[in-house]
Amino acid sequence: MRTLDDLDVEGKRVLVRVDFNVPQDEDLSITDDARIRAALPTLRELRGRGARLVLLAHLGRPKGVDPKFSLRPVAERLSELLGEDVALSPDLDDVPDADVVMIENVRFFEGETKNSPELASRYAALADVYVNDAFGAAHRAHASTEGVAHLLPSAAGRLLQREVETLNGILEDPKRPLVAVVGGAKVTDKIGVLDAFLQRADAVLVGGAMCFPFFKAQGHSVGSSLCEEEGVEPASRVMEDAKLELPTDLVAGREFSADTEVRELDEVDVPDGWMGLDIGAGTAERYAAEIAAAGTVFWNGPMGAFELAPFAAGTKAVAEAMASTEAVTVVGGGDSAAALAQFGLADRVTHLSTGGGASLELIEGKELPGVRALT
Ligand code: 3PG
Ligand code: MG
Repeated sequence: MRTLDDLDVEGKRVLVRVDFNVPQDEDLSITDDARIRAALPTLRELRGRGARLVLLAHLGRPKGVDPKFSLRPVAERLSELLGEDVALSPDLDDVPDADVVMIENVRFFEGETKNSPELASRYAALADVYVNDAFGAAHRAHASTEGVAHLLPSAAGRLLQREVETLNGILEDPKRPLVAVVGGAKVTDKIGVLDAFLQRADAVLVGGAMCFPFFKAQGHSVGSSLCEEEGVEPASRVMEDAKLELPTDLVAGREFSADTEVRELDEVDVPDGWMGLDIGAGTAERYAAEIAAAGTVFWNGPMGAFELAPFAAGTKAVAEAMASTEAVTVVGGGDSAAALAQFGLADRVTHLSTGGGASLELIEGKELPGVRALT
């Protein structure tokens, strides 16, 4: 993969694709600017090397032009963080001749998500070289992430480079033992990741509602727990693998609510009228001990309903073990990143990926179109 080391950018206009798809509240205020901050090293390096920047980014999944999905709040936040003016251009014609320009949401343009060659050419006409730093969108073959890379001298930015090197590193040459902690609601979302780690890791620790298809396949009662029916078949396929570890105790609630009745179960049969909402204290202790003894840990997906206080302990135990272990710790984006942030531990892991879907696809061994185009 080509990197910024391979590009001459002095005095040039550089088109930079970033992933500034940040969460916003109802007033469109940004609630977490981690993705914007993560791109700063690339943007600062390019500016320091004498480049002028034209930025491309998406926000949400608008159908055509929609002011709710405007990048204006993002351009303002970037300007504060970068300490430079960031001009916002509503379209691809008459782009202001400024040092740093952001083009409006690329998903406002017809053809972006269809990887239209015509749109890619219009992007390419804006600059001399192309840099892709949008790791979180690298699994999309869109005009701004893939098509345009073929039309200009192109390379990976520092964030995309670090993401790919770190994630490939834990697959190819991890410090052992390699422990994967995989949680979340659905087995079918994570089966590719389970398969990848069952081949490479020394232990795979499973948590979250995705345990229930496993328990169902083993003949346990799941009560009214969230239990993905299509997950039972893939779960039973990998269940016999000795590396795969499941919870041995649970915390259950009457319903999915913070003020529901709570019960600790010292086994994994969930009684009728109850739902399993967290791993139990014994399981949390066992998982934390394996994280502490690991050389490398990859974590994706919460252990329970951590957004509800009575069911946060399992996810918190994993997050704290990740923060205090000597191991190399890598966290896939999405809910596990949100959990780390909730517990104030986001800066205590070795690498917190800015990609959700992209990091999972890379782990599964899929080629990311945005990366392939830079290779
Ligand atoms: C993300 O937030 O997962 C990335 O920015 C990709 O967004 P998308 O799933 O809408 O393509
Ligand atoms: Mg997504």
